[in-house]
This record gives sequence, C-alpha cells and structure tokens, in this order.
Amino acid sequence: MSACLAECPGPGLRRMQVPDVEAVLAIENAVYEFPWSRGNFIDSLAAGYEAWLLAEGTTVTGYFLALQGVDEMHLLNISVAPGQQGRGHARAMLDVLCRLCRQAGCLQLWLEVRQSNERARALYRRYGFTEVGQRRAYYPAANGLREDAVLMSLQLPAQEVGA
Ligand SMILES: CC(C)(COP(=O)(O)OP(=O)(O)OC[C@H]1O[C@@H](n2cnc3c(N)ncnc32)[C@H](O)[C@@H]1OP(=O)(O)O)[C@@H](O)C(=O)NCCC(=O)NCCS
Repeated sequence: MSACLAECPGPGLRRMQVPDVEAVLAIENAVYEFPWSRGNFIDSLAAGYEAWLLAEGTTVTGYFLALQGVDEMHLLNISVAPGQQGRGHARAMLDVLCRLCRQAGCLQLWLEVRQSNERARALYRRYGFTEVGQRRAYYPAANGLREDAVLMSLQLPAQEVGA
C-alpha cells in the first residue's frame, strides 16, 4: 500500500476498515444481484487493497476497492447506495481514484464491468474509459448461466512534479 494514498484522501473519503464492512455489505447486497461476500471484503482489507469509503460519520454513501500494481491500478468494486445514485458520487470517487493513481505513479486504470450494466458502462465511457476487450463468461448470472465482462481502460497522464 503506498504511503501517498494514505495521505491523500478526498473530501468525505476515508479508508474502509473492518468495522465498516456491515454498512458496506448493506449497500453491496442492495445494488448487486451477485454481491461480494463479507469474506471478500475482509480478505481485501487484509490483503491491503486500496479500500475507501465516501462517508459522513457512520453513514456510508459509497465505496471503492482497487488493487495497485507496479504502474497500474485495477478497480475491483465501485458502488453507491441506492438512494444516493445519480448525484455524482461515483464520478467524485473516480476523480479521487485517478488522483491517487497519478500520485502512486500508476499510468493506467483497468476495470471489468458486466456487459448488461449499461449505467456503469455509461459512467465509465463518459469519464473517458475505453472498452478494450471482453472476458467471456466472467460473471455468474441468473439460472446458473454466465455473463461476459467488458474490459475497460483509462490512460492517465504521468504525474507532474509537486502535483
Ligand atoms: C454505477 C454507479 C456506481 C454510478 O454511481 P452514481 O453515483 O449514480 O453515478 P454518478 O451520479 O457519478 O453519475 C456519473 C455518470 O453515470 C451515468 N449515470 C448516472 N446516473 C445514471 C442513470 N440514472 N442512467 C444512466 N446513466 C447514469 C452517467 O453517465 C453519469 O454521467 P454524467 O455525470 O456525465 O451525467 C451506481 O449506479 C451503482 O452503485 N450501481 C450499482 C453497482 C454497480 O453497478 N457498480 C459498477 C460495477 S462495474
């Protein structure tokens, strides 16, 4: 975990910690048909993934988790509470993530999104991500079927000195 990320939270943003997982799970279970489990979040925190909350006190509005590589970042989960969607929270979290990427020296941001998730794909496209590939049968789907993922990527400018 980069020291820089720990020092550069955005407004209303703080690191996710184990006691936050119940509030996070409530959102996760509300917004996904196939949500991450409690164990997925606990393991991600234990593994030192970048895990951030948009929160006022104990009220969580949204969160994201990302895995940092040498010079790239992989966004694993970004979610906004149902009653809080459409207000720019996801875009604000992506702004923070991009800033953190640049400060950590990451030049590329990757993510997978369900082919059917038009809302998220629209968010990412409008944000500047490009659809660069497909992962066949990547996600579980209803009736025991699988759904393809769209692989998306955002190129980030190299960090300016002092930024
Ligand atoms: C996808 C999600 C994270 C977007 O969060 P959000 O806070 O509602 O998004 P924002 O308000 O920041 O909107 C940003 C963009 O999303 C898109 N968007 C937002 N609301 C939308 C809606 N009702 N219909 C279609 N597109 C919409 C728009 O492209 C918008 O772009 P704009 O700001 O230029 O208008 C949120 O809907 C969510 O949590 N969904 C369930 C979990 C999920 O699918 N996560 C992504 C997994 S890959």
